[in-house]
Amino acid sequence: MTSTTYASRRGELTTYFDRTAVEAWARLTTDAPVSKIRATVRAGRDAMRGTLLSWLPEDMTGLRLLDAGCGTGALAVEAARRGAEVVAIDVSPTLVGLAQERLPAIAGTGSITFRVGDMLDPGLGRFDHVVAMDSLIHYRASDIVRALAALADRTQGSVVFTVAPRTALLTLMHAAGKLFPKGDRAPAIVPVTESGLRKRIGKEPTLDGFAVARTKRINSGFYLSNAIELRRTLPPVPVGERGQRP
Ligand SMILES: C[S@@+](CC[C@H](N)C(=O)[O-])C[C@H]1O[C@@H](n2cnc3c(N)ncnc32)[C@H](O)[C@@H]1O
Repeated sequence: MTSTTYASRRGELTTYFDRTAVEAWARLTTDAPVSKIRATVRAGRDAMRGTLLSWLPEDMTGLRLLDAGCGTGALAVEAARRGAEVVAIDVSPTLVGLAQERLPAIAGTGSITFRVGDMLDPGLGRFDHVVAMDSLIHYRASDIVRALAALADRTQGSVVFTVAPRTALLTLMHAAGKLFPKGDRAPAIVPVTESGLRKRIGKEPTLDGFAVARTKRINSGFYLSNAIELRRTLPPVPVGERGQRP
C-alpha cells in the first residue's frame, strides 16, 4: 500500500515531467546546446549514470532489471546493451514516448519493455536488479524507504538509487527556488541525510535481508546527488514464512 503523500507527490511529478518540464527535460537528455548551469547538471547526470551502471554486473545476459522512473531511457539502453531484459517504467507517458522514439537498435540478446505507470506496481514482476536514478528524490524520506522496501521485496540482487543529500548549499538553493513564481517551480526536491536514511532503512523489516553496500556523492555545479547501493545479504523469505527470521 502506498501512502497518500506518495500518491499526491507522484501526481505532481506526473504533471511536472509530462507537461511543465517536458521540453527542458527532452533537451537536457540530448547533446543539444544548453545553458552553462544546465551543462553542469548534464555532466553530473552522465557521471551518476556511469556510477550506477558500474555497480551493476558487466554482463547482464538473462538478468531482469527494473529502470524505475526511466525518463527518456538512457540508462535502460546501456543496461540492455549489456544483455539485460529491462522493464523501463515512468509515470510520464510523454517521456516514455520519447524514450521509445529515441530507442537505438540493441545488438545482442538484451531488450527493453517500456511501461507507463507507477514504479511500485507489483504486476511488473520480480527483478535481479532495480535502478532508480533521481526518481525518488522528490519523495519524503518515509516514502523513499517504503518505496525501497516494496522494490527490494521483489529483487534478488541489488537496488541502486539516488537521494538528494542535505547540505547547507542545497538548503540555500532550495530556499532560493522558493523565490520563483509558484507555477514555474518544480515539485520540491526533499534532501535527506545519509545517517537518517540508514536509520530508517535499519528499522524497515522488509529490508532486513539488505545492507547498504556502497555510496558515492556526485557534485557537478548545480547537480548534487548521492548514489546508494542496497545489496541483498540474505535470501528472500517466502511470503508464508515472514516474521520468522531470528
Ligand atoms: C529526474 S527524472 C530522472 C529520469 C531518469 N531516471 C534519468 O535519470 O534520466 C525522474 C523521473 O521519475 C519519474 N517518476 C517519479 N515518480 C515515479 C513513480 N512513482 N513511478 C514511475 N516514475 C516516476 C518522473 O516522471 C521522471 O521521469
